[in-house]
Amino acid sequence: MFITFEGIDGAGKSTQVRKLRNLFLTRETEVLTLREPGGTDISEKIRELLLEGDSDITPTGELLLFAASRAELVQRVITPALDTGAIVILDRFYDSTTAYQGYGRKMDLDIIHRINSIASCGLEPDLTFYLDLSPEDALIRKFSEKSLPLAFEPEELDRMERSGLDFYTRVREGYLELAASEPHRFRTLDALQSPEELHRIITETVLASAGSAPER
Ligand SMILES: Nc1ncnc2c1ncn2[C@@H]1O[C@H](COP(=O)(O)OP(=O)(O)OP(=O)(O)O)[C@@H](O)[C@H]1O
Ligand SMILES: [Mg+2]
Repeated sequence: MFITFEGIDGAGKSTQVRKLRNLFLTRETEVLTLREPGGTDISEKIRELLLEGDSDITPTGELLLFAASRAELVQRVITPALDTGAIVILDRFYDSTTAYQGYGRKMDLDIIHRINSIASCGLEPDLTFYLDLSPEDALIRKFSEKSLPLAFEPEELDRMERSGLDFYTRVREGYLELAASEPHRFRTLDALQSPEELHRIITETVLASAGSAPER
């Protein structure tokens, strides 16, 4: 079973990936958790290239590097693991590319869909949990994490860049459109719920789906 988590920065993806992984571990189910980009020798090298702050890469170049890293991960790691019957949990997959590059940066959605389809070699998640959080709530979460006052001043919002909020608003709209267009695999969850409640819902959904999932 192939499960992915999506959502804007700070929505709670890694928290839920950890909880779900622990659940499978306590049940002695073989589980593999991965992050993108990375996970193979070549993908880790691509990760270094992508995360180097000073490289002057074009948006197209960046899109293709992400895709190259994803193709390696899918063919070398994810598909072989699924073939052995393991559960694979991925913190972000191609929906992030569509939401961030497509909707956020306004790159051509048609091209992105084609590249996503090549990079994933046609592999589609069985379940995608989209943790829905408004950019404003994400910002509040970030501030409270740093123990800054919750009622932040407008000038502090300026520092966090208004344009950043517009970008994340587009990303969120993208995710909502994706979820609506592929309801067979997307589950949209209100990320403002407690981590425990979210984990409860996610566990229930995964177990129900595992019971009805066809053999690969
Ligand atoms: N349901 C929740 N309610 C409130 N706070 C949460 C919840 N889930 C996670 N958090 C907190 O919000 C912060 C971000 O969570 P997390 O790292 O899981 O998000 P993320 O989606 O993986 O973010 P990123 O995209 O930046 O990796 C952490 O401080 C975490 O403890
Ligand atoms: Mg994370």
